[in-house]
Amino acid sequence: TLLRADTRADLAAALTPTRLAGRQVAFVPTMGALHDGHLALMRHARELVGPDGALVVSIFVNPLQFGPNEDLDRYPRTLDADLDACAGAGVDVVFTPDVAEVYPNGVPFASDAADVTVDPGPLARILEGASRPGHFRGVLTVVAKLFGLVRPDVAVFGQKDYQQLALLRRMAADLCLGIEVVGAETVREPDGLALSSRNRFLDADQRAEAMVLSRALLAAQEDATRGAAAALGAARAALRTTHLVDVDYLEITDPDLGPTPESGAARMLIAARVGSTRLIDNVALDLG
Ligand code: PAJ
Repeated sequence: TLLRADTRADLAAALTPTRLAGRQVAFVPTMGALHDGHLALMRHARELVGPDGALVVSIFVNPLQFGPNEDLDRYPRTLDADLDACAGAGVDVVFTPDVAEVYPNGVPFASDAADVTVDPGPLARILEGASRPGHFRGVLTVVAKLFGLVRPDVAVFGQKDYQQLALLRRMAADLCLGIEVVGAETVREPDGLALSSRNRFLDADQRAEAMVLSRALLAAQEDATRGAAAALGAARAALRTTHLVDVDYLEITDPDLGPTPESGAARMLIAARVGSTRLIDNVALDLG
């Protein structure tokens, strides 16, 4: 049965038997509004620790990772449905703190705030970080705090947020956290649109056009054997078929988000606005 903890103390109490028994702990951090992408991470996490391990999920909309003009206030909150989904997914403990529980001294928005926060380094200044200054400082800080509270052996994140996954891997490695960070495949709608809590903000026309993002990435994958320029051209051609999708960036990097490689494994990443909703997606490319 699902244990729910709202406070640090309740979480520690819920995990005490697990720690005493020396069971492995797998952790899936989320901001709630759970969908099948989140559930796939939970299944993956369960497989990593087995039936005897403990599966912990957190649901916390982290103010620190939202910019002043972003959608913190309208971010979807569906707690009752989320708790049902966690119970159905075989989650052992769900951690649902409020903002004061995570940030007892207040949310350290200012970079000169008294609290220690995590400096994500140069990888946080490209792609998403260029459009969303401070975003990855907020993500890494909250995940570091959640890691400290849950103390998992392994944590599972989606490839959907590829740069986030890359930065969390770097944080765990560079800060020697001793936590294995595992990436899981992106879950998509039948037409290719990556599942996202923000998809609910798309109206019918926008929803129909939003599939152009994944279609562009698929076109790039198919043309990747002819090189990076051809892959970019194929993606751009697909994106030109609609006016409703306003591209923020479309880039090819190496798998660690370094410069575009000549050939071999690469990643194509896209961000676009559809109306007021910002969507991101990415795929692996094999450059010829
Ligand atoms: P959130 O957007 O709720 O996503 C939680 C996890 O679900 C992330 O690891 C994300 O990559 C993954 N995810 C989202 N959509 C997915 C999809 N379609 N397929 C597979 N995985 C998907 O990402 C965050 O929350 C926050 O930044 C967080 C890490 C919780 C820190 O606040």
